Amino acid sequence: MLNGGNVVLIGPMGTGKSTVGKALAEKLGWTFVDTDAVIEEKAGTTIGAIFAEQGEPAFRKMESETIASVLQGETRIVSTGGGAVLAEQNRKAMKTSGFVIALRATEETIIMRVGNDENRPLLQGNAAERVRRILEERKHAYDFADFTIDTTDKPVEVIVDLIVSRL
Ligand code: S3P
Repeated sequence: MLNGGNVVLIGPMGTGKSTVGKALAEKLGWTFVDTDAVIEEKAGTTIGAIFAEQGEPAFRKMESETIASVLQGETRIVSTGGGAVLAEQNRKAMKTSGFVIALRATEETIIMRVGNDENRPLLQGNAAERVRRILEERKHAYDFADFTIDTTDKPVEVIVDLIVSRL
């Protein structure tokens, strides 16, 4: 049950965190925040450029700072980057400030949705192979969520209704 906390969406790339987050925020009349978008706005450049020019550790630092700051104050729907759950401090911030929902999808769906995206630096090169490896490496990384929804064959409205019914 939700006690006035944030709703935090976690899950691998391409599982629909931003799309679902936006639709959920609209339905509830809440503010929506996408941490990757906040990072890009603050840095004045793309996630791809941050990885290329400053490296992944610099991105992870910005990501942790962003998560800490957006989970304070006003209650929001927050969608996070797929790797945000790797840092314990981020998991803690998510757990203590809200209801955590994990989205999942099949490997094929993820590859179809984001395999060609040039702004997903971790998928450059052989995207299918990279998705496979990331899913394997992060197999249990999203297990701490309060509940999990498979978005593979579900329209956004159905996913939103499922979430609302659990809040
Ligand atoms: C990442 C996922 C991306 C973005 C960055 C790293 C990851 O977010 O934060 O490219 O480590 O899985 P999405 O999950 O929104 O694609």
